[in-house]
Amino acid sequence: MKRAVYPGSFDPVTYGHLDIIKRASTLVDELIVGVLVNPSKSPLFTLEERVDILRKVTADIPNVRVERFSGLLVNFVSEMGARIVVKGLRALSDFDIEFQMALMNRKLAESQETIFLMTSDKYAFLSSSMVKDIYRLGGKADCLVPPYVSERLQAKYANLQNQQQEEE
Ligand code: PNS
Repeated sequence: MKRAVYPGSFDPVTYGHLDIIKRASTLVDELIVGVLVNPSKSPLFTLEERVDILRKVTADIPNVRVERFSGLLVNFVSEMGARIVVKGLRALSDFDIEFQMALMNRKLAESQETIFLMTSDKYAFLSSSMVKDIYRLGGKADCLVPPYVSERLQAKYANLQNQQQEEE
């Protein structure tokens, strides 16, 4: 079985990620979306929330599985019985860091290959950080995230605002 891993923070998943997931899923038998447990970052959504959101929005793609991972990506890839890492490339600015990571991963695990999919042009400048900014400032971006993600973002910021008001 040909398996690939698409890793990321997915805080939260956007239409840009979903575009890569859909296209990558047509190239392999099984695509595992690896959600990073990263104690050094403080994500907006907890790991459980990010996994839950991803499972909901990929439920209609039968060969996609969502799993969490911590530690080295290359270890997770081999634990999953995969040899392929899929990455999305947006603007040129992604290239430098992705190139460094792909070369480092190759040093760590020579048998694994990183494959880059070019983003669709309409998502070239889309990032989870931008989406969060829009929702944090009271906006909505239904063209950038699925309706379920939009609802979760609105609920999350409403909760955070309530908590802040209670503390004041
Ligand atoms: O969505 P992100 O935050 O840009 O994803 C980054 C990710 C998860 C792909 C990257 O941080 C990663 O691979 N982390 C795992 C740790 C690791 O293997 N580091 C060595 C690679 S150079």
